[in-house]
Amino acid sequence: MKLLVVGGGGREHAIIQKLKENPAVETVYALPGNGGIAQDAVCVPEIGAKDIPAIVDFARSHAIDFAVVAPDDPLALGCVDKLHEAGIPCFGPIAKAARIEASKVFSKNLMKKYGIPTAGYEVFDDPKAALEYLKTASFPIVIKADGLALGKGVLIPQDLDEAEAAVKTIMEDRAFGDSGNEIVIEEFLTGPEVSVLAFTDGTAIAPMVSSMDHKRAGDNDTGLNTGGMGTVAPNPYYTAEVARVCMDTIFLPTLAAMRAEGCPFKGCLYFGLMITPDGPKVIEYNCRFGDPETQVVLPLLKTDLLTIMQAVENETLGELEVEWHDGAAACVILASGGYPSHYEKGKVMTFPEGLPANVTLYHAGDKLDGEGRLVTSGGRVLGVTATAPTLKEALADAYAAAETVDFEGKYLRHDIGRRALAAMEGQ
Ligand code: AMP
Ligand code: GLY
Repeated sequence: MKLLVVGGGGREHAIIQKLKENPAVETVYALPGNGGIAQDAVCVPEIGAKDIPAIVDFARSHAIDFAVVAPDDPLALGCVDKLHEAGIPCFGPIAKAARIEASKVFSKNLMKKYGIPTAGYEVFDDPKAALEYLKTASFPIVIKADGLALGKGVLIPQDLDEAEAAVKTIMEDRAFGDSGNEIVIEEFLTGPEVSVLAFTDGTAIAPMVSSMDHKRAGDNDTGLNTGGMGTVAPNPYYTAEVARVCMDTIFLPTLAAMRAEGCPFKGCLYFGLMITPDGPKVIEYNCRFGDPETQVVLPLLKTDLLTIMQAVENETLGELEVEWHDGAAACVILASGGYPSHYEKGKVMTFPEGLPANVTLYHAGDKLDGEGRLVTSGGRVLGVTATAPTLKEALADAYAAAETVDFEGKYLRHDIGRRALAAMEGQ
């Protein structure tokens, strides 16, 4: 079979490696892919992940048997709709279903209408009305741009001055462009965060192993928000009891709500949850695999990934048992110094001769230079993942391997998994 994966980050590298475990897979094309992914797939750097007509033409002309659309932008732009029109089976939600991530106003209204637990909120399209509302609000409060904003469209002002500045940033300075035409102002919730990715064909659901992201740039959750600096799986806060409550009050009601709205969700639905004193609540939905959650979740998947994705596409997921390995996984992101603000690119990367069998490198932001060397080309450069019987061992192995990869300005957090380990000791 010939497969196509749209995207070019660590998440896509993890998906591609897993798809290749199926012996029927002959070739995987990555559009655009990256320098490291080129070790596992045929990369097409000329075709960007948002270039829907070029992606569809490529899929047609290369007689692609199955496509996976991984990033949010092409999903929101209708890449899956267009591939389907061209007769190409694929994994991912149609544009109408991708609104669950692409519009926070859509997702908040969906949760309110169908009684799915989430933070209380108001929607504003007029900055004056938003400012008026904030005068009587209590702080901290959460202000979110409606649309996609590379994970940066969420601001948490601590007082009225900061809140006024946040509204100005989003709605007047238009820091996130049209994504800020509307904003959601919502209640600040507290509690540990859990990411749950789930395969779903619109009706049946197979939640994956839970995980924990580390979004802030600095140790002890300080500094700016990033795309994610590391992950661990499973997440100790996601107990069997919490999982049961989530299934009954969040997962199944969300699928039913999407069906009732005429846009059943097929693909990977990501539930960003907060375990509040009042129970689990939805912080956000993503219409796709999370990054870097995927880099700890997929290594623990036992069932063949392509078979699951085909069952999602064919709406037969309910007939399949999705199985997971025991044990844990940890991923430490190696970033370019300065990320998520200004950073330099083009630094030559060096790798160890060999890696332990339980360690995998997922390439996120690198490319091949004219001499065939891997050089950095992005903020998040590499994910170093280890699997092991326990989280403690997985973390030790991931950190040991992270030491053996080098490039000028390499930056990493040193406390990935620390909170998860402390939570496990407290249990
Ligand atoms: P999001 O992009 O929606 O995941 O938001 C980014 C981060 O902001 C989340 O991972 C949370 O840490 C934080 N956040 C978002 N919404 C809330 C909320 N209602 N209360 C507290 N923290 C929040
Ligand atoms: N790690 C969070 C995300 O993928 O949006």
